Amino acid sequence: MTNSLQGQTALVTGSTSGIGRAIALRLAGLGAHVIVSGRDDARGGDVVERIRAEGGSADFVHADLSTGAGAARLADAAAAVTGQIDILVNNAGVFPFASTADTTEDIVDQVLAVNIKAPLLLTSALIPTMAARGTGSVVNVGSVAGSMALTGATAYSASKAAIHQLTRVWVAEYATSGVRFNTVAPGYTETEGSQANTDEALRAALVSLTPAGRGGRPDEIADAVAFLVGDDARYIHGALLTVDGGSGV
Ligand SMILES: NC(=O)c1ccc[n+]([C@@H]2O[C@H](COP(=O)([O-])OP(=O)(O)OC[C@H]3O[C@@H](n4cnc5c(N)ncnc54)[C@H](OP(=O)(O)O)[C@@H]3O)[C@@H](O)[C@H]2O)c1
Repeated sequence: MTNSLQGQTALVTGSTSGIGRAIALRLAGLGAHVIVSGRDDARGGDVVERIRAEGGSADFVHADLSTGAGAARLADAAAAVTGQIDILVNNAGVFPFASTADTTEDIVDQVLAVNIKAPLLLTSALIPTMAARGTGSVVNVGSVAGSMALTGATAYSASKAAIHQLTRVWVAEYATSGVRFNTVAPGYTETEGSQANTDEALRAALVSLTPAGRGGRPDEIADAVAFLVGDDARYIHGALLTVDGGSGV
């Protein structure tokens, strides 16, 4: 058994930071040509350089996924790099925490655009080619917040529940084509984004709710994604793999 990704091209959205960067590094380490993507060209360039320095292969494609046009441009530009996308990791996400009463129209629009519309449009643009070739793998990065009723993250939780459901819908539509879809749902994970969106008190509260006694590391989420996109997971369709130190128990 091998999870080698040699000869495959992987597009990882939101791979200029945090969990996405760890996924990009891990998939490149397994031999995939990785397309690193995000709005921040400098951070994206750093990830590409690091992958190349470690002997892997990668390119950066700039993308702003806050509009449908941005998602469409990314699908075209990413597919043009090596001629095909074999693996898509829908990881880019925003998490402006706000309770129901504090949720503004701007928060709703932002969360819907990046966390739901972009993965849906990217998948819709890239999947027909994978299905025609009879192979491919997509991992959606969800969250424990998509399955548990947490307070203070209303729009975000709803968006993550939606991405969990999109995985199931895509399995129903495409499983016979040979393309697989799965979800990885992290619990609290220490990233640039989670540090910027939480204060020390909230972080301590999240850790106290985690039986493992600590927050997750991005590389621990990346390991789960690497398993699901590889051949060892060839009969796994529609899984919701929670990687959360037990916080969802
Ligand atoms: N950290 C956690 O505790 C945790 C827990 C559960 C689930 N998650 C999920 O894991 C994923 C990654 O989170 P993270 O903690 O690694 O966050 P992060 O450090 O803030 O990284 C977010 C990534 O998304 C990209 N992104 C954000 N808005 C974008 C936009 N409009 N267009 C294109 N790219 C955009 C960012 O790239 P640019 O800045 O370059 O645009 C960045 O690479 C998210 O889906 C999040 O919901 C995180």
